[in-house]
Amino acid sequence: MSLKITTKLVEESNISSFDPENIVFGRVFTDHMFSCDFRNNQWQDFRIEPFGKIPLSPTLSALHYGQAIFEGMKAVKNDDGVITLFRPLENLARLNRSAERMCMPQLPEEIFMQALQKLLILDKEWIPAKRGSSLYIRPFMFAIDDFLGVKPSENYCFMIYACPVSSYYSQPLKVRIEEKYTRASKGGVGAAKCAGNYAAAMYPTKLAQKDGFDQVLWTDGEQHQYLEETGTSNVFVITEDTIYTPQLNDSLLAGITRDSIIKLLRSQGKNVIEKQISVKELIQWHEKGELREMFVSGTAATVTNIEMFSYMDKKYPVNATGNLLSTEIVNAFNDMKTLITPDKFDWITILQESKMVHQ
Ligand code: COI
Repeated sequence: MSLKITTKLVEESNISSFDPENIVFGRVFTDHMFSCDFRNNQWQDFRIEPFGKIPLSPTLSALHYGQAIFEGMKAVKNDDGVITLFRPLENLARLNRSAERMCMPQLPEEIFMQALQKLLILDKEWIPAKRGSSLYIRPFMFAIDDFLGVKPSENYCFMIYACPVSSYYSQPLKVRIEEKYTRASKGGVGAAKCAGNYAAAMYPTKLAQKDGFDQVLWTDGEQHQYLEETGTSNVFVITEDTIYTPQLNDSLLAGITRDSIIKLLRSQGKNVIEKQISVKELIQWHEKGELREMFVSGTAATVTNIEMFSYMDKKYPVNATGNLLSTEIVNAFNDMKTLITPDKFDWITILQESKMVHQ
């Protein structure tokens, strides 16, 4: 089905405000945004308009009761000007899993892909061609009922905007393993990419930042014994012969970068284990000198090393220089995305003027 998207273009592009040599994460947005509404049980009113403010009622239910979910994905441009997306249908699948958990409507593939295609073609000049830079794309959905009572909204808005970005973190991270606060717990919404999870993380993260850390490394909500994720990304622990990452559960976000790293490393014959990783075990690896590297992974964070973790006020330095597995992974993904190496995993979608083409 071809979507009828009403398009209103900017009178004058804002692209001159964007310096590809000096990109600050999440501050400059492309010229256009996509929106559509879910009303009477149907997605409708597909439109692309100049990026800008949206009218909101003070009673808008997302503002009060938090039915708001989002995704993060990236478009990359190679030296020949070819634009690719990395596993976009995985983002849609996760958006729809989040939507189900939050009592929100499913978004059909044709709406997601055609909206992305049209928006990205319109704003393609904004996609930086420099290796390591990309266009960050933020699809999101929120409840728009004007109603004070607590119940799932009947009406929703789905939107996409985008901004050129380079790295989210400019250096290796110092993380504090959380002993008191909880981001998400069993049976909760930790596995959904919903706004509230990020709000819940802000206060403990602020406390950690006040003490000189970049991020909280969350632990399970019941015992604070098992590693979960950081506020923006999944986590990997590398010992002499094995790569570990916390196994998925309902308090942990199923990162697409996480999944891609696991598949990439396993395809290279490496031993990757998804399991519950206890803080005790992590400290033992450190004490025995077996801990080689730790990194976080996410769309925005890409793959960023942890140079120190702290637990019960004790600091544990971790190697974050030299020949790092994280660097190999980042290079492998960049090569795939820019079509330097073949896409043997079937992860790359090429953006064309009239359609998306699976590689
Ligand atoms: C992403 O990596 O896309 C995220 O959503 C993390 C974000 C909060 C910056």
